[in-house]
Amino acid sequence: MVEKIVDAFRNRFGSNPYVFKAPGRVNLIGEHTDYNNGFVMPAAINRYAYFALKPNGQNLYRFHAFDFQKDYTTPTHRIEPSKTHWANYLLGVIAQMVTDRKDVPGFDCVFGGDVPIGAGMSSSAAIESGLAFALNQLYSLGYSRMQLAHLAQKAEHQYAGVKCGIMDQFASLHGMKDHVLKLDCLSLEFEPFELNMDNHSIILVNTGVKHSLASSEYNKRRQECQAGVDILKRSNGKVQSLRDITLDELMAHKQEFDPVVWSRCSYVVEENERVTNAGKALINKDFNTFGKLMYQSHYGLKDKYQVSCPELDKLVAITENLDYVLGSRMMGGGFGGCTINLVKNSHTEAFIEEVTRQYQTPEGHTPQTITCVISNGAEQIEY
Ligand code: GLA
Repeated sequence: MVEKIVDAFRNRFGSNPYVFKAPGRVNLIGEHTDYNNGFVMPAAINRYAYFALKPNGQNLYRFHAFDFQKDYTTPTHRIEPSKTHWANYLLGVIAQMVTDRKDVPGFDCVFGGDVPIGAGMSSSAAIESGLAFALNQLYSLGYSRMQLAHLAQKAEHQYAGVKCGIMDQFASLHGMKDHVLKLDCLSLEFEPFELNMDNHSIILVNTGVKHSLASSEYNKRRQECQAGVDILKRSNGKVQSLRDITLDELMAHKQEFDPVVWSRCSYVVEENERVTNAGKALINKDFNTFGKLMYQSHYGLKDKYQVSCPELDKLVAITENLDYVLGSRMMGGGFGGCTINLVKNSHTEAFIEEVTRQYQTPEGHTPQTITCVISNGAEQIEY
């Protein structure tokens, strides 16, 4: 892949570029908790957005999207949201740097990658984080990785219209080979847990669907959680987010809640607890418990948070009869994309066979399965 991107750059712009890559991510557990100041447990994986870029000495940003074979050029003094959907992920990053009064001279860029789009593996965060990382290096802008993650998140808010949390951009920039990262989304401290894959594999199964309500429902969940926080604040001014309460404290206020807001909030509080327990299970190398927590997470997302869909539920249900699957759940924002499965290494082929026998995408295709290798975050590639 990277050779193709570099060749495309040479053919188009006639010189040798600097080359960078930023990964997509998986999330083992802790879904829809990041924007509630809670806990998540993502890891970067060996699927990347690649960038070949170089300053061009002109007042122009020239982009070529290799995967779509499309171009986009804009003068450096006019950065604004575009009708070209893919360009917004790039322009949003530059816009944030300009807001920070950084100097971002014109450059040429070819980008593309192998993070599947719409699969819940954060292809958009890989693009935002990759460009942010590349420009930071190229123009010595002085941002830390965490600052880049925030900048990329704001790009998603303002130029893609999704009020996402920090998890995806964080994972793409901080990923550590062989480790999952338990992130406290309030303090932004994170703890790496070694994920010993001698006996287990992480396999994603792509439903092949991405329902169109994904981003509108996502933003709605955020508002519902905030509505819950507003109720809790009335009796305890110290509550800033769902992170600040226990399940018992929440229970004590159940009567004041609308039932939908209640089920959203109780899911979030329970999911935070599951992430903490999942961390303990990893320390004890107790993958059985870890897997059970993954199933519980799925059922919370399905029944209480209501962000699953029949295709995801079917994939999870298939695994429940397979004793070599320790855990399975929907991953990411929901309404389509992938399930994440923790499978015994001795049975990875059997797993893929069984899932592809029992599930077809709505178009009647065999679902894509991806066996993940946990990898480092964004980096420059010597080329
Ligand atoms: C998307 C968002 C993340 C996170 C997940 C759900 O991937 O970008 O910030 O909220 O959904 O856990």
